[in-house]
Parts: sequence; C-alpha cells; structure tokens
Amino acid sequence: MRSFSMPKMAISLLLAILAAAILIGINETGYNRSTAALNDIADASRTRGALNLLLQHALDAETGSRGYLLTGDPRYLEPYNSAVANITQTLDNLRLLHTANADEYATLSQLGRNVQRKLAEMELSVRMRKQGNEEAWKFVLMTDMGKEHMDAIREQATKLINASSDRMDVSQAQVRRALLYSRIGIAAVAMAGLLAFYLYLRQGTALKLAGEQQQQILQQERDLLERQVRERTATLAELATHLQQVREEERGHLARELHDELGALLTAAKLDVARLKSKLGTQAPEFAQRLQHLTETLNSGIALKRRIIEDLRPSSLSNLGLTASLEILAREFAERSGIDVATNLEAVELDESSQLTVYRLVQESLTNVGKYAQAAQVDINVRNRDGLVEVDIKDNGRGFAMSDVRTSTHGLAGMKHRVEAAGGKLTVESVPGEGTRISASLPRSTQPA
Ligand SMILES: Nc1ncnc2c1ncn2[C@@H]1O[C@H](COP(=O)(O)OP(=O)(O)O)[C@@H](O)[C@H]1O
Ligand SMILES: [Mg+2]
Repeated sequence: MRSFSMPKMAISLLLAILAAAILIGINETGYNRSTAALNDIADASRTRGALNLLLQHALDAETGSRGYLLTGDPRYLEPYNSAVANITQTLDNLRLLHTANADEYATLSQLGRNVQRKLAEMELSVRMRKQGNEEAWKFVLMTDMGKEHMDAIREQATKLINASSDRMDVSQAQVRRALLYSRIGIAAVAMAGLLAFYLYLRQGTALKLAGEQQQQILQQERDLLERQVRERTATLAELATHLQQVREEERGHLARELHDELGALLTAAKLDVARLKSKLGTQAPEFAQRLQHLTETLNSGIALKRRIIEDLRPSSLSNLGLTASLEILAREFAERSGIDVATNLEAVELDESSQLTVYRLVQESLTNVGKYAQAAQVDINVRNRDGLVEVDIKDNGRGFAMSDVRTSTHGLAGMKHRVEAAGGKLTVESVPGEGTRISASLPRSTQPA
C-alpha cells in the first residue's frame, strides 16, 4: 500500500511546485511587461504634452511678435520673449524623450529646424521694427514664409503626436494582453490546484480506508487468537478440576476400602487373637507372650490404617465439621513441627466440596510453612465477610519472591485453581524476609452444610 502511495505523493508535490512556479513566472512576466508598457504610455503622454506646449509657445511667440509689429508697443515683446525661451526649453525636453526611435528623432530634428527658422524669421522682423525699417518688416510679414514655417511645424508636430498615440495604443494593448495572460494563467493554475487538492483528498481517504481495513484484519486476528487462548485455558482448567475431583474421589474410595475391608480383617484378627488368648489361659506362658505381641502388632496396624485413612480423606470433616477439623490439623502440625500456631476460626457456611477446598488449602499452606518458611509463628483465620468466607494463613518466616517460584511446582498453583474452581479468589503475598500470607475468599453456601 505504502510503496504505491509514496511516488504518488511525490508527484503531487512536484505538480504543486511546478504549478506555483508557472504562476509566479506568468505573474512576473506580466508585471515586467505591464511596467514597461506603462512607462511607454507615460513617455508618450509626456511627449504629447510637450508637443502641444511647443505649438502653444510657437503660437504665443507669433501672436506676441505680430502684436509688436502692428502696434509697436513693447509690452507685446514680453510674452514674445518668454514664449521664445520656453520653446527652446521644450525642444530640449523633446529631444531627451526621443532618443530611442530613429524615425521620430529625424522628424523631431526637422521640427527643430523649422522652429529655429520660424524663430529666426520672427526675430528678424522684430529687430527691423525696432530699428524703424518699416518696409523691410512689412515685406517679411507679407511673404508666405512665416505661414510655411508654421504649417511645417504643425505638420511635424502632428506627425509626432500621432506616432506617440500609436505607441500608446500599442502599450495599452500590451497591458491588456499581460492582464489577459495573468487572468488565464491564474485561473488555470487555480483549477490545477483544486484538482490536485481533490486528488490529494481522495488519496488520503483511500489511504485511511486501507489503514482501517488493515486495522480491522489485525483486530480480527487478535480476537481469534484471544478466543483460542480463552478456549484452551478453559479446557485446561476443566481438565485440572476434573483431575482434582477424580483424585479426591479416588482417595475417598481408597479410604472406604481401607476402612471397610482392611478394617474388618484387622478387627476379625484381633478378635481371634483375644479368643485364643482366653482359651490358652495361663498354660503356656511362651505362647501367651507371642499372642500379646501379635495383639500389639495388630493395634499398630489398626492405628496406621486409621492415619492413612485420615490422611486420604479427613473423616473429621464429615464427622466434626470444618472448624474442628482445622483445629485438629493445626494442633497436629504444631506438635509435629514445634511451630506456634494461633487459630481464630469462625463458624462458616460452606458446601461440602468448598469445605474440603479450605481444608486442603490450610493443609498445603502448613506443609509449605514446615518445608520452607523457617517461621516461629503461624496465624490461621477463618471469618465471614460481606457474603464471603475469608481464609488466611500467615507466617512470619523468610518469605519468597514470586519471580523465584519455579514453574515446575504445583502447590500454590493447585490451590489457586482449586479456589477459583469453587468460584473464589486466592492471593499470595510474600516479601523476602517478611513472611508469607495466603488469603482466599469463597462464596458462602446458600444451604446450610
Ligand atoms: N510459607 C512459605 N515460606 C517461604 N517460601 C514459600 C512458602 N510457601 C511457598 N514458598 C516457596 O514457593 C515455592 C512454591 O511452593 P509450592 O507451589 O507449594 O511448591 P512446592 O511446595 O512443590 O515446592 C516453594 O518452592 C517455596 O520456595
Ligand atoms: Mg507446596
């Protein structure tokens, strides 16, 4: 999935960069062209202004000179002189504006010459008038020379004005074109950008979908595995429960057999010996001694049988109840091991199999204390709490670390399983050097035991 999407991503990015570059390119070119065109327009408009001014000044100068010629009033010389000065200045400006185009420069030169001629003609007639040479200035005035010069000036100025108008038109067209290109370019790139964005979104959605699908597959696999583990654990737990039951049943069966069969045999033998003993009387002291020994042997056998049966299946449990059985268990353990055992046992309501579970729990815990704890004191508590029966066995021995418990040992694990199979919960707390505490809580039986 990923190996496909990476190049696609890279292509999208490249396209985006390309589009941005094109956009910037179009914009820059458009800007440069427009700026150049606007400069041209400004130049053209200045040129037109200057030409109009030139014509204006030329007319002013002519009007001024004519006024002076006709009236002889020197006041007319003032506008004439200032117009002449302005004409020279304006011509200089025009020359500066026309360096680029050779044709126009030529026309401008012609215009300049004609202006000079016109100025020279006016200057001549004015000078003659000043000198009082009536005939001469009238002659100059009468000739068509002034008009010709003026016409030429007008013609060339018009030509230049038209040329600058043309240039303005061209520049305006250029600005319009640049604007159009920008418009088209921006629209195209915007469309491309939208398209790219759409593709990107679609791709993102596809990626997300694929991710979700993968997640789902993983989740399904995990669920399957979890279910399998649960099923197997349940099967194993059932098996373990079954084995424990079978074991208890076997033990019960064995205990009954021993009690009924071996017990009957031993009792019969004892009775026979007693009968023999009474028959013999005091006649054969040697046999009597033998028979006495046999009686003692039989008694030991009966005691051994009773111990084995008790160990196989605590008869005290059904005969005396849980509390008394635990008291006996604790007392015997204390006598055997020399460890001080304190009991605090409340009467509790538990069904038969839970009673056996508690009995075995205490039995195994005491065995462990004897084997490993090196304890001086053990406390056994049984009490009712919140609808549960709580049992705990606490010693003050050397304790152990949970992580050190070998997996090959089954005492604690068996207890846990047994308690859980009875619907209860077992916790083992132990700190090295600080003793061990085994606690179990079991649901109370609904019927009295
Ligand atoms: N009361 C205790 N004090 C110290 N160590 C204990 C005690 N109970 C159990 N242990 C430790 O936990 C281990 C596991 O006990 P258990 O499951 O009963 O197995 P086993 O008795 O077969 O060794 C023991 O080997 C021992 O090291
Ligand atoms: Mg053990």
